[in-house]
Amino acid sequence: MPEVGNLSNNQGETDSSPLNQAHLAKLLEQHLRSLQVAGLTHLPKNLDESNLDLSQLLTSPDTTASLPATATNPDNSSTKNYAAPQHTRSANEINEAPQSNYNETTNNAPATPTIIPPTDFSESNRLPLEQRQAALNVLQSEISQCTKCSDLAGQRTQTVFGVGAPNARLVFVGEAPGADEDRIGEPFVGEAGKLLDKILTACKLERENIFILNTIKCRPPQNRNPSQNELSNCWGYAERQLEIIQPEFICCLGSVAARTLLKTTQSLGKLRKQFHSYRGSRVLVTYHPAYLLRTPSAKRHVWEDMKMLMKEMGVELSN
Ligand code: URA
Repeated sequence: MPEVGNLSNNQGETDSSPLNQAHLAKLLEQHLRSLQVAGLTHLPKNLDESNLDLSQLLTSPDTTASLPATATNPDNSSTKNYAAPQHTRSANEINEAPQSNYNETTNNAPATPTIIPPTDFSESNRLPLEQRQAALNVLQSEISQCTKCSDLAGQRTQTVFGVGAPNARLVFVGEAPGADEDRIGEPFVGEAGKLLDKILTACKLERENIFILNTIKCRPPQNRNPSQNELSNCWGYAERQLEIIQPEFICCLGSVAARTLLKTTQSLGKLRKQFHSYRGSRVLVTYHPAYLLRTPSAKRHVWEDMKMLMKEMGVELSN
């Protein structure tokens, strides 16, 4: 398998098997996507078309022809309990425009819907585990130095990066660290975390097989909601975590996570009970465990949501 760091060398010449070509095409696509995420919209001349839109390149039949037409199951040893049924993306999902950066309010997205090639989640198309772990380590160290929100940085005990498997099929996105998380450095370790653990157990999930992260990495004082400015400063880190992990599924816990990830102002009630799309991942939205602590009657809704998610993931649950 080619090393990602060697993208620019001539491995295509030494091994031109279809598998390696497909893998290289996938790596190139990932690289272009990361450039697009970083803000690049056009490539300079020496490509035949001088004004080629990057989104066109990502979606042109030429560059995607060798990519599989449907998502396939990962052969993922650490998540082997959660083997998913093969999933074919709907026309709607395939036609959805790519998500832009949180900051991009006046984004450069093309006016017409862009066709995104379906994501292939098979291991051969994903970064090797060690590279994902290494990339997460680098990012974690970068985040630990962050002082973009000077108030939060001045008050925190530490940043709370997130925890779990770098090759998780499922990522939970919470809101922000609380006092316990700030002290321990891990998400969801307080009261809301205990409830999340119960939800995970009911879903036959284990923390070490999933990944848990927050929209922002520092504790807001008095556990207030993150401000728009804090989300703008910090959400890019979560985007990069998701880019590295490439989860097949994302579960947004609460409206802050849901609205930030899906770039919407819709209410949580409207966002529940359906799968959304985020850069090829299937997204389900449910209530935040802290809300359940205040409103236990909502637990049955969360259970319905989790059953829907587990069914899609191919995990059998008893009723
Ligand atoms: N609530 C969150 O959203 N995240 C945590 O890490 C803890 C509580």
